[in-house]
Amino acid sequence: MSEKAILITGVCGEIGQALLESFAEQNEQTVVTFDLKPLPDKLQGKSTHVEGNILDKDLLAQLSAEYEFEVIYHMAALLSTTGEHKPALAHEVNACGTVELLKMAAGQSQAQGKRVRFIFPSSIAVYGLPDLETKRKHYRIHEREWTEPTTMYGCTKLYCEKVGNYYSKYFLQLGKEEPVRLDFRALRFPGLISAFTVPSGGTSDYGPEMLHAAAQGKPYACFVRPDVRIPFMVMPDAVKSLLTLAAAPQENLSTRAYNVTSFSLSAEEFKEVAQNSFPKAEIVFRPDVKRQSIVDSWPADLDDSAARQDWGWEPDYDVERALGEYLVPNIRERYR
Ligand code: SER
Repeated sequence: MSEKAILITGVCGEIGQALLESFAEQNEQTVVTFDLKPLPDKLQGKSTHVEGNILDKDLLAQLSAEYEFEVIYHMAALLSTTGEHKPALAHEVNACGTVELLKMAAGQSQAQGKRVRFIFPSSIAVYGLPDLETKRKHYRIHEREWTEPTTMYGCTKLYCEKVGNYYSKYFLQLGKEEPVRLDFRALRFPGLISAFTVPSGGTSDYGPEMLHAAAQGKPYACFVRPDVRIPFMVMPDAVKSLLTLAAAPQENLSTRAYNVTSFSLSAEEFKEVAQNSFPKAEIVFRPDVKRQSIVDSWPADLDDSAARQDWGWEPDYDVERALGEYLVPNIRERYR
């Protein structure tokens, strides 16, 4: 009989690490983690770790034979800036890798006779506003508006939402009975900020990068204009949203991809916060044309009322608590 477990892919990324910490604290379930890299030292012993590539079908088949996955948190992905440097690779990993894992989860659901929950971090990058005027007018975006991504990352996220929905609702082999299907659920995250890890390869990274550089007294050149505004959320709320959505009764869900957010800040406001909290901060603005165009296409805010209504979503950290209780003290401590 194979062992029941939870699977976290991309565990070495920012969300993956925070998620594993949270499961390790509960210490209730077997957690299998998967990444190209070995586990960071501080996470050693907190999971059964498998080093490998999400595109390795044999390895996925082996994992599937060994474990009965109840919930899969599929965090492995290339982020939006890296994806623009390497669009073909971003497509391979983010789209093809996810589809391989969806197929595995579909097979497991059928074999277990139980819907495997597949939790997927989608993104603000699924949206694409055509110009700044439209972005000003359509300040707060609902799930069904402006899904016209401008990056390979955004395209793959939106595509995987659709394929996840397909495997959850429509997948049926010709001539066969209705199968037990997987249960795909996605969160469209805003920019995420952790006090304990620094992002790499994203386009919302200027927010966290500014704070982490300021705390170290390092000069920072922000790659977007001061007036740029997008939504953000801190990592404890990201983990909370993943766990709450995973636990929500299926009959309460009215969609398979939910916006979640906490607060919106402009890059100028980030700079003010960084300078007020870390007086040695040296921040200048040196916008990069490509990265600027990406954030200009992302909405200034997300309408997360569906998540609030359907499964009681509410962030614990508004902007004051996020900065005053979580980010500034922990970042200060980190670089002391
Ligand atoms: N944080 C991501 C990025 O910047 C967006 O979801 O790519």
